[in-house]
Amino acid sequence: MRRAIYPGSFDPVTNGHLDIIERGCKLFDEIIIAILVNPEKQPFFSIEERREILEQTLKEIQRGSCQLRVDDFEGLLVQYAIAQQAHAIVRGIRAISDYEYELQMALMNRRLEPTIETVFMMPAEKYSYVSSRLVKEVFQLGGELDGLVPPLVEARMKEKLRRA
Ligand code: PNS
Repeated sequence: MRRAIYPGSFDPVTNGHLDIIERGCKLFDEIIIAILVNPEKQPFFSIEERREILEQTLKEIQRGSCQLRVDDFEGLLVQYAIAQQAHAIVRGIRAISDYEYELQMALMNRRLEPTIETVFMMPAEKYSYVSSRLVKEVFQLGGELDGLVPPLVEARMKEKLRRA
């Protein structure tokens, strides 16, 4: 049973994240999509909203026999990974610019916990410029999100704007 953690902010989940999860399903029997609880950041969606959106959108993806679970965590990622008896951490790398930061995190995590491996995966090229940060910026400036995020995410973002 190979279990991996796919950690992140997922604020919001993008099609790039879903692409990585689908690819990860070819390597692992179970992937825990773990949302970081970060009290210092003012998120667009609450942890509960992100959990619910992820659970809904994961129903649509190609997973084969891979189990997918959504959770949230606080504190050190490697401590969470150990508590979950995971073997690996999955991170998506879109461009060289991601690599430097990701390498730093991977090596720090290895120093903290040498038994956990970090696996870098590349999303499809069409998602190589998609990030949660840019999705929020484009949305807030009235741009089109078609193809960048699952339809549920766009609908929930519009709903939030209406209620604000
Ligand atoms: O989606 P993000 O915001 O790029 O995800 C970043 C994340 C959650 C992977 C990273 O911030 C993280 O692992 N935070 C937990 C704190 C931690 O373990 N820090 C030390 C290792 S570098």
